[in-house]
Amino acid sequence: MTTPTAPSPTAAGSGASATQTFRTADKYRGAGTAAPERVDAVVRDLLLAVHDVIRRHEVTYPEFQAAKSWMIEAGEGGEWPLFLDVFVEHVVEEVQAATQEGTKGTILGPYYLPGSRRLPSPATLPMRDDEKGTPMVFAGHVRDLDGNPVAGAEVDIWQADDDGYYSGFAPELPEGNLRAVVVTDDDGRFEIRTIQPAPYQIPTDGPTGKLIEAAGWHPWRPAHLHLIVGAPGHRAVTTQLYFSGGEWLDSDVAEAVKPELVLDPQDAGDGTRRVEYDFVLQRDEATAAA
Ligand code: DHB
Ligand code: FE
Repeated sequence: MTTPTAPSPTAAGSGASATQTFRTADKYRGAGTAAPERVDAVVRDLLLAVHDVIRRHEVTYPEFQAAKSWMIEAGEGGEWPLFLDVFVEHVVEEVQAATQEGTKGTILGPYYLPGSRRLPSPATLPMRDDEKGTPMVFAGHVRDLDGNPVAGAEVDIWQADDDGYYSGFAPELPEGNLRAVVVTDDDGRFEIRTIQPAPYQIPTDGPTGKLIEAAGWHPWRPAHLHLIVGAPGHRAVTTQLYFSGGEWLDSDVAEAVKPELVLDPQDAGDGTRRVEYDFVLQRDEATAAA
């Protein structure tokens, strides 16, 4: 992976890293699987939708050429994963969510890294000695749809730090910071000590940021934890958890907030906040037979 050399997390740094990560992580790619009939049907309608927008808004040649140059810049900056995960992924997730029971899912986003450190519960996420932010204990159970605890389930968790940056994508953060795969105990319980994340701002210095500014939108996502929760014989759920009362909850630029996914941590009296959340997994008939 190329290590961005910029002193702070720039769009160029996180964009290029997100593109590099996507290229190497085929688990979430599924590229090359579309049948010709699907390509024909989906791309045809996509182009018809574009044509319709051009007619309705009487798009001019200068605007068409500006769109082309923006797309070239977005590609050169490696920003397509960022752009697509912010503005498009939530609808793909909505389509797939219609077939999944249990805990609500939401978007994966561009900052997942496979192979995080595996830790038995209770666990403390890898963090710097002087990690900023309010300490938080996030705990709960993983259960199946019948309420049975799932022992040995994997709670793959990643989050931004108190400044809104992700390790692996911001050059000054240690590798693996605030990322782990926490394994539930015999009672299906997990307990994770971390810090409460901060809201995340889409890098404003790249093409996506420039587009957002040009359109007069805001670049913020509410503070969130990212999770992929899975277990053998169960269908994994990719989700995020948000914080009650947090900024941008009602106007997430990525439109990925769902009411079932909002946590309300309470002060534990010792400067730590605590919150419980239970995950519910659907059995995966394809792998359950094994
Ligand atoms: C983006 C960043 C996130 O942290 C996230 O959860 C979703 C999308 C992005 O910059 O594209
Ligand atoms: Fe995120």
